[in-house]
Amino acid sequence: MALVMNGGTSYINEIKRLKEEKNAIILAHYYQTGDIQDIADNVGDSLALAQKAASNDADIILFAGVKFMAETAKILSPEKKVLLPDMAAGCSLSDSCNPADFEKFIKDNPGRTVITYVNTSAEVKALSDIICTSSNAVKIIESLPEGEKIIFAPDRNLGNYIINQTGRDMLVWNGTCHVHEEFSLEAIIKLKKQYPDAKTIVHPECELPVRMVADFIGSTSALLSFIKKDNGEIYIVATEPGIIHQMVKARPEKKYIPVPPRDSTCACSECNFMKLITVKKIYECLLNEKPEIILDKNIIERARKPIVRMLEISEKAGL
Ligand code: 13P
Ligand code: SF4
Repeated sequence: MALVMNGGTSYINEIKRLKEEKNAIILAHYYQTGDIQDIADNVGDSLALAQKAASNDADIILFAGVKFMAETAKILSPEKKVLLPDMAAGCSLSDSCNPADFEKFIKDNPGRTVITYVNTSAEVKALSDIICTSSNAVKIIESLPEGEKIIFAPDRNLGNYIINQTGRDMLVWNGTCHVHEEFSLEAIIKLKKQYPDAKTIVHPECELPVRMVADFIGSTSALLSFIKKDNGEIYIVATEPGIIHQMVKARPEKKYIPVPPRDSTCACSECNFMKLITVKKIYECLLNEKPEIILDKNIIERARKPIVRMLEISEKAGL
């Protein structure tokens, strides 16, 4: 049932009206709740949403996602108003890489190309040579000459996964995502016994033992493409369960089982930051045109270069 405001109008109808009136678009990440994904103009992974943020005719971009995603949109479209319905929607992975510490790490390890995952603050991006997402990380590393020495930050699991795939010389920052490092290997093994035909699909931010039992490893969009094409019927899904909304929409006849976290007092593996965004907050944000992402001009200029390099390499790679 649609959420109803005083007077009987639904938030969803009002959001539609405000979007038109203000020439606004809503970009939503796959980890948002299903109701938000369904009202968005574009739903996607970090790369697809950055690509959309870089090229659209809207005056306002409302980001239904977390702060680093909205900041990336602002950096790519500084002339637009970029709104984030709740400024507390951060990211534990981004928080694990403080700009001052990262700057020192780069200085202490000179002569390395700095590749930074998009899950970072604008300040950290400004210290980087190229940004990547989980969709294009391997392709971006492979686009560099063999033998080039690399610093990769901040996700140690994605970094180790890339080393495994490419064999490159990479110094990896010791950061993690609190959702992806918490998946229970024990629960996956139990589920595999219970559903022997199930395929285990895993995001590369997961720890090595979880990646080792995977049938397929990929970004959120890669996991979605996999279940669309694959001939399996049951999937054990080790990433934030918001993606299952799109999986059910794409292949409703299949079964998707979210992996629970190690902490048995908490039954689900939702990203508490992503889930701070609600339909009501989106409505209020569009109405009041705040909270708005404001970034220093100098940071925008410096952070833009490595993001644009990412978009150029991705385009060449057909991503
Ligand atoms: P994707 O690049 O797969 O969208 O991942 C974003 C993210 O936050 C993973 O935790
Ligand atoms: Fe950050 Fe992890 Fe949430 Fe993704 S799932 S936004 S990496 S805390």
